[in-house]
Amino acid sequence: MRRKIIAGNWKMNKNWNDAKALFKSMCTIPFEYSSEVVVLPPSIYLADFSCCLPKNINVFLGAQNCSEKSQGAFTGEVSADMLASVGVNYCLVGHSERRKYYAESDQLCLEKVLVLLNENIVPILCVGEELEVREAGKHFDVVKQQINGVLKHLNRDQVVKTVIAYEPVWAIGTGKTASTEQAAEMHGYIRSLVAEHFGENIANSVSILYGGSVNEKNALEILHANDIDGVLVGGASLKTESFYSIIEAGNGKK
Ligand code: PGA
Repeated sequence: MRRKIIAGNWKMNKNWNDAKALFKSMCTIPFEYSSEVVVLPPSIYLADFSCCLPKNINVFLGAQNCSEKSQGAFTGEVSADMLASVGVNYCLVGHSERRKYYAESDQLCLEKVLVLLNENIVPILCVGEELEVREAGKHFDVVKQQINGVLKHLNRDQVVKTVIAYEPVWAIGTGKTASTEQAAEMHGYIRSLVAEHFGENIANSVSILYGGSVNEKNALEILHANDIDGVLVGGASLKTESFYSIIEAGNGKK
């Protein structure tokens, strides 16, 4: 269902003591907001955080990755079932760092989306083009391939439960954001791709987040652009004050 989501991806940052301190201070944020806040710490901390998640507020836990297999001899992997069993509600799929450093393909992303949906975990499917691709004017083609590589294989119910995050690779961790026009244009395009396969109603019920150097200064403008339903924040989610400002920027939008 379409809703506003502010998600913080901690990536591989913070040892246990620092992570605990950050999470504790985030739990003091007055989350009386219409948006859903999703915190995505390294998976080793999820079970512990899940136990001290404030119950009366719109804050959820997300994982950064999961295995495409359901169980068995896959050393080092974490399954969707394990994530669900510790109270995880969201999981990233196909983040550009996973696509780049771990060669994750669209097919693998599809398999991960399916195991997550099977456990009632909301997949956040990440898509986005590299700088060379944008410069060559091929960004729509690449995003279309990434979207179709997964969504075309889902049914309507599954699509409605899936969240999409557009993250231009050249904007991730670089301090360079896509302009609001560029972001809104791509979000509109992604929604049109969903509409092509599943119709306008379904397309209008899918949340599409923007990610890539979102911070407390640019969040307000991004969060108010057409077709942008929320943000996926990396670096700025590692400090409570900046993450809080981003949550505030999203408040009251819809
Ligand atoms: P960034 O990361 O905000 O540090 O650019 C975003 C992401 O990778 O999800």
